[in-house]
Amino acid sequence: MLRHLWLLALWLLGSSPALAEVQSCHASRVQSSVVSSCQAQHHEMLPEIDPSTDILLLNFNLFSNISASSFPRLERLRKLSLGCQLGGSLSIGERAFEKVANITFLDLGGNRKLSLQPTALAGLRQLEVLLLDANGLDETVLEGGYFQDLVSLKRLDLTGNQIKRLRPDASFQGLKLLAVLQLRLNRIKTICGEDLTHLGGRHLSLLDLSSNLLSYRDPWYNHSCPSPFRNITVETLDVSSNPWDVGSAERFFKVMAGAQIRDLKLQHSGAIGRGFGFNNLRGLSASTFSGLSQSRVLSFDMSHGFLSKLGPLVFSGLPELRALRLAANQIHEIRGEAFAGLQHLWTLDLSHNLLGELNTEALQSLRSSLLLHLNLKSNHIGAIQHNALEGLRTLRTLNLQDNALSRVPSGRLPALEHLLLGQNRIKDTWGIGKLSTNLTFLDLSSNRMQDLRGLWNELRGIPALQFLNLSHNQISRCSEHQDRAMPRHSQLRVLDLSENSLNIIWNAGGCVDVFHHLDRLTFLNLSRNNLQTLPEGLFQGLVSLQALDLSGNLMAMLPDGVFQDLRSLQMLGLQGNPLVTLSPSVLQPLQALAFLNLQEVSLLCHCSLWDLEDWLHSTNVTLSGGKEGVTCLVPTPPFPGMPLLFFIQSSCVQ
Ligand SMILES: *[C@@H]1O[C@H](CO)[C@@H](O)[C@H](O)[C@H]1NC(C)=O
Ligand SMILES: *[C@@H]1O[C@H](CO)[C@@H](O)[C@H](O)[C@H]1NC(C)=O
Ligand SMILES: *[C@@H]1O[C@H](CO)[C@@H](O)[C@H](O)[C@H]1NC(C)=O
Ligand SMILES: *[C@@H]1O[C@H](CO)[C@@H](O)[C@H](O)[C@H]1NC(C)=O
Ligand SMILES: *[C@@H]1O[C@H](CO)[C@@H](O)[C@H](O)[C@H]1NC(C)=O
Ligand SMILES: *[C@@H]1O[C@H](CO)[C@@H](O)[C@H](O)[C@H]1NC(C)=O
Ligand SMILES: *[C@@H]1O[C@H](CO)[C@@H](O)[C@H](O)[C@H]1NC(C)=O
Ligand SMILES: *[C@@H]1O[C@H](CO)[C@@H](O)[C@H](O)[C@H]1NC(C)=O
Repeated sequence: MLRHLWLLALWLLGSSPALAEVQSCHASRVQSSVVSSCQAQHHEMLPEIDPSTDILLLNFNLFSNISASSFPRLERLRKLSLGCQLGGSLSIGERAFEKVANITFLDLGGNRKLSLQPTALAGLRQLEVLLLDANGLDETVLEGGYFQDLVSLKRLDLTGNQIKRLRPDASFQGLKLLAVLQLRLNRIKTICGEDLTHLGGRHLSLLDLSSNLLSYRDPWYNHSCPSPFRNITVETLDVSSNPWDVGSAERFFKVMAGAQIRDLKLQHSGAIGRGFGFNNLRGLSASTFSGLSQSRVLSFDMSHGFLSKLGPLVFSGLPELRALRLAANQIHEIRGEAFAGLQHLWTLDLSHNLLGELNTEALQSLRSSLLLHLNLKSNHIGAIQHNALEGLRTLRTLNLQDNALSRVPSGRLPALEHLLLGQNRIKDTWGIGKLSTNLTFLDLSSNRMQDLRGLWNELRGIPALQFLNLSHNQISRCSEHQDRAMPRHSQLRVLDLSENSLNIIWNAGGCVDVFHHLDRLTFLNLSRNNLQTLPEGLFQGLVSLQALDLSGNLMAMLPDGVFQDLRSLQMLGLQGNPLVTLSPSVLQPLQALAFLNLQEVSLLCHCSLWDLEDWLHSTNVTLSGGKEGVTCLVPTPPFPGMPLLFFIQSSCVQ
């Protein structure tokens, strides 16, 4: 597909083959290789090239015939690209590549009408990668002994051809290293019995049969299609985007019985499942994948489909499964026992579905499993029944981002470390300590949190917390009835409080001790909180802080001594504050400062800024936008900002 875009781009650039001049190749050295690049130069035959060429690029020319006399002897040539010739057809004659027989990579792709003599590829005993994609080839390419000599071949790309059956001939027995066979976008309908005999004993890392016509609709296949995969193991089998319904998929898996497959992809299978409006289609059942029970599939991906309900035991045919991906379906109901039999499951991805609640029975069957990661992002979950998450004793990551939750889920997940609750409607963290005391990562961004003190009190229950995101909430209160600070020995490293209303809290004198004891904190974001000033002692004790973002606030000046304790601070963001003046003495305690952002601060041009200019001049701190980017304003008559340096030098010479 990409190839056609290239063509289009060339056409748009106006390089019409008929009109333009033939140019000469461009030779360059890339690492230790000599690359001769002669692409899109209107050549009909090989131009003169450096005889020591290692890589020869001839894409988008006008070759129509390649024969043994097309190339001089190029002993060092390793890679040859002849993709997308623009002449309409390309024929490859007998032993066409015998003078470049040391190549390991040959690209003939994108030549829509390719004709190959049976011995066209003879002698290419070093060839490891052969690209024959989009060549208008039919199944004879697999059956005519073309690949006889390719004993080193590892990857064969036949994507986008007209192949109707997969029956590699006996010459494939010699291709002992073949590991990747790409057959996407062909017209293969079935694979049965002896079809793959000549791949016997092979271990393929990828067999891509996606976007073919596999359907097995005819019940004839129940009995008359012995497994073609008996003697082959496949790391990844991709059968996505084939036109099967659930019955024919079931037949296919029965046919495959015994095949050893680690990773099975069945994405975009539009006719499987019972999506809204597809009620005539049968949904998954316990027998759908039963054919795979001996296949030891470890990872199964059925995302981007139309699954709507998961009934009992639907995945019980995949007892070894470690990862099950069901993202982007229309699942709105999970029955009890849906995941029964998946005792080894580590990862379950149910993101981007239509789940409205999580009831007790949905995950019940995973209670004795070893589940580590559960992704429920982007559903419509508004309610989680109180014991729905019960028993997931090993769960480490729970992603509930972008749902409709109004409270932290209840339950006990003793091993939980990462909890993602961003983009919900949660008002407080009540109960979070009960959920897990082992949390290290908590994302509560874009919720409806209000009370800073209440939050801090709850967080005492999760002493291992290292990352806390409270960005985009409504934090504007500090309830004073419980006045306990963060526990000493807090582990918190990253705290994002941007986009809240901390100005309201600190203007009222509340919670000014909120950061005390956070002596391991390295990152603090206070951007966009309408802060007009910073309370005294706010940053007291933040001895590990490396990055502080105060941008986008309303501060007209920085109180002296505000950064007193920040001896580790390397990065300070002050951009977008209406600072009228800035004294370098405020910045002096920041011994480690390396990056400072003073863009869009509206300093008033005044000769008292002389010492700031002097500091800027001598400091090693890197300023965003450069030192010249620090500007000041002359209000009458209004000028756009002028560089501070220019103002001081032109107006304040002593
Ligand atoms: C290509 O080769 C065929 C057969 O060898 C020949 O008939 C034809 O004239 C050749 N075309 C060109 C353009 O050389
Ligand atoms: C392939 O390389 C070997 C050694 O590097 C050389 O002797 C031989 O002639 C080369 N073959 C061709 C066809 O250039
Ligand atoms: C598997 O294939 C290999 C290689 O072709 C062959 O030697 C072996 O007999 C086959 N085994 C079975 C069980 O068919
Ligand atoms: C073929 O198999 C399917 C699915 O396993 C089953 O529903 C159907 O009844 C079978 N048909 C025959 C003729 O055996
Ligand atoms: C909690 O975390 C600690 C440290 O990572 C770990 O040793 C402990 O096993 C965890 N507790 C549970 C119940 O998983
Ligand atoms: C916090 O969450 C917001 C919104 O999801 C995100 O943009 C931001 O990068 C997060 N902060 C950190 C420190 O990861
Ligand atoms: C701080 O938060 C603001 C607003 O969410 C964001 O734009 C900015 O990139 C954050 N700063 C850093 C250093 O991540
Ligand atoms: C800036 O760096 C140079 C070279 O590393 C050093 O000699 C100088 O003392 C530094 N200046 C300041 C103000 O830290």
